[in-house]
Amino acid sequence: MSILITGGRIITATDDYVGDIFIEDDRITAIGTALPMTADRTIDARGKLVFPGGIDVHTHLDMPFGGSTSADDFETGTIAAAFGGTTSIVDFAIQYRGQTLHHAWETWMKKAEGTAAIDYGFHMIMTELNDQVELEMDALVRQGVTSFKLFMAYPGVFMLDDASIFKAMLRTGKNGGTICMHAENGGVIDVLVQRALAEGKTAPKYHALTRPARAEGEATHRAIALAEMADVPVYIVHLSSAEALEMVTEARDRGLPAFAETCPQYLFLSYDNYEEPGFEGAKYVMSPPLRQRETQNRLWRGLAGNDLQAIATDHCPFCMKEKHLGDGDFSKIPNGAPGIETRMSLVYDGGVRTGKISLNRFVELTSTSPAKIFGLFPRKGTIAPGSDADLVIFDPEKKMTLRAKTLHMNVDYNPYEGREVTGVTETVLSRGRIIIEGGTFVGRAGAGSFITRSERK
Ligand code: URP
Ligand code: ZN
Ligand code: ZN
Repeated sequence: MSILITGGRIITATDDYVGDIFIEDDRITAIGTALPMTADRTIDARGKLVFPGGIDVHTHLDMPFGGSTSADDFETGTIAAAFGGTTSIVDFAIQYRGQTLHHAWETWMKKAEGTAAIDYGFHMIMTELNDQVELEMDALVRQGVTSFKLFMAYPGVFMLDDASIFKAMLRTGKNGGTICMHAENGGVIDVLVQRALAEGKTAPKYHALTRPARAEGEATHRAIALAEMADVPVYIVHLSSAEALEMVTEARDRGLPAFAETCPQYLFLSYDNYEEPGFEGAKYVMSPPLRQRETQNRLWRGLAGNDLQAIATDHCPFCMKEKHLGDGDFSKIPNGAPGIETRMSLVYDGGVRTGKISLNRFVELTSTSPAKIFGLFPRKGTIAPGSDADLVIFDPEKKMTLRAKTLHMNVDYNPYEGREVTGVTETVLSRGRIIIEGGTFVGRAGAGSFITRSERK
């Protein structure tokens, strides 16, 4: 099967030109102006932007959490991702205490195989470390699971102590992997949560008021210091605060391999959302929480200046029925919100159209840079001969109003309900197969493949 995409404005992290792309089977085989080839199918992309498919390196599909399970599984979540212009995800497998990493990997592979509509990889969340687990870490890196997420928060559930974190870092420093860190001081937060509840402060907004930005800054500083001593790259996930960003900036200024992502929710929503009436604030209960509105500009500057290297979603949706598990106790509200489908349009509309980031930087943040950090580049994350034909044809002038009812995520609310965005994904190719066309999913659940990621170079 061959496809010729003609006359689109091709944008990569570094290029911007009008040209044609020729695809044979699953790869791009030629790029040029006025390519002479004939193909089984021609797509006219004049007036449209052509991006490498979006890569979302932080999703939680079919994830048990807080007495519930995230509402999107690998079928619904990856189809929604495709509608939004994302063609690869890196989700999180979880090693629960007493379990092997291999068991966690197998469990998550079973969830994704035969259901995912786009390609997927896994980070490994580790909640327990011993000699056997350390050996398994090396084996996982060799089989393409090259990053480990550790938690400094959620005591009794996911949190690891500093000694275990340090051991995992030392091992990863040697085996060619990367450490992803949930950086919030879980001990401090737990004390604040218990005190708030004892004082009868039970509403959703107290989720935010008991997770101070300084607790994120402190943990980010500690994560980077531990990683520096262990000589391992560290990637701070879902960075939300200026306090944490300062720590990453300081480390990068010293030349350390410290990286960080932020997420659209921290760029477009704020603490004010927790003050919405009744139980509405529960829609935004996530960790770290939304911050003061002023933080948004700091994060945009960090993105523009490469102190932040990626925009992922932390897609972890729960329907309102599940959020109501926290009626009368904010600490029981499942943490997380939907975002896998809306990332590209939100960042294009709020970042590129407002001049906060360039078009090239948009591609870099949503695709190229995460591909490089997590061992997917150049197979994914760019438009080049030999790369997978994961492509997005994007209408930069089309408008769309974000509504839970018309979006495709399996969740009954949207944090951006009613917001109008300009810039909409029109056509999506995943490894040379058209999967979104004319507002319809035309791909196949199960057509996505596990991506073996390479070790750090
Ligand atoms: O609130 C969040 N972020 N839920 C997902 C789990 C995590 O820590 O990433
Ligand atoms: Zn986290
Ligand atoms: Zn997460």
